[in-house]
Amino acid sequence: MAKYNDLDPKKWKEYDDIYTDSLWIINKRDNSGAHKFRYHGNFVPQIAYQLLSRYTKKGDWVLDPFMGSGTTLIEAQRMGRNSIGIELQDIIAREAEERIKSENKPDINSIIITGDSKKYDISNKFKELGIESVQFIMYHPPYWDIIKFSDNNEDLSNCKTIDAFKEDFGKVIDNCNRFLENGRYCGIVIGDKYADSQITPLGSICMNLFLERGLILKAIIVKNFGNTEGKSNQQAIWRYRAMSADYYVFKHEYIMVFKKDEKKKKVK
Ligand SMILES: C[S@@+](CC[C@H](N)C(=O)[O-])C[C@H]1O[C@@H](n2cnc3c(N)ncnc32)[C@H](O)[C@@H]1O
Repeated sequence: MAKYNDLDPKKWKEYDDIYTDSLWIINKRDNSGAHKFRYHGNFVPQIAYQLLSRYTKKGDWVLDPFMGSGTTLIEAQRMGRNSIGIELQDIIAREAEERIKSENKPDINSIIITGDSKKYDISNKFKELGIESVQFIMYHPPYWDIIKFSDNNEDLSNCKTIDAFKEDFGKVIDNCNRFLENGRYCGIVIGDKYADSQITPLGSICMNLFLERGLILKAIIVKNFGNTEGKSNQQAIWRYRAMSADYYVFKHEYIMVFKKDEKKKKVK
């Protein structure tokens, strides 16, 4: 068994639900229990389920510095993983907390913090919890300014330029990855942006932030964007626009996985 998950490779035939390919087509969101909540900009719980299955063990600690509606924490709790979520907007954090607690797993810690992930000092919380590190970090930052999450200047979706977004997201990575146990993994979910007749490749830009810090790239997964209800009309319009112009309609986002390996670290 690997050091970083509970899967037994000898039983590979039994793990029908675990993805091992780099193309993920997920057409239906898991809306069960506490996941039944609409938060514009959330991801499907299956992403957290897949990554936590492959890269964590029961009892591990998972950190999500862009917690939003708490999808990662709900999934972590269900899977017997402890978790810490940081969210800038207090009201969103409190709502998530209520829903997470509604699934009531008293033996699992789900810690919710309202704060700015660029600078929140998590070490005091670690002392309180008696831990020194986390075993997985799930990054799901704003896709720069595509969705404005709040009016707060510290919100990454309010960065005025792509350079400011890079700088701020870099600060979040630095503030969090120092607590990632060596030999363990972090993942990012991110999509590109199309505006002013050109693509801003947020996927590549964010990937480079991890590579520049010496993280080892282990996976680039392409996941389809689900067709949200009531959008079929809009899709026809987008198809028409794409056909009469020179671009393709985005139907995918990326999930990338990186390993922290201090021995192999070569800062580029
Ligand atoms: C893409 S959403 C994450 C959604 C989440 N994965 C879910 O499923 O609900 C990004 C979140 O990051 C939060 N955010 C933006 N800037 C932040 C910062 N500096 N510190 C902490 N959270 C931040 C936003 O308020 C938003 O809820």
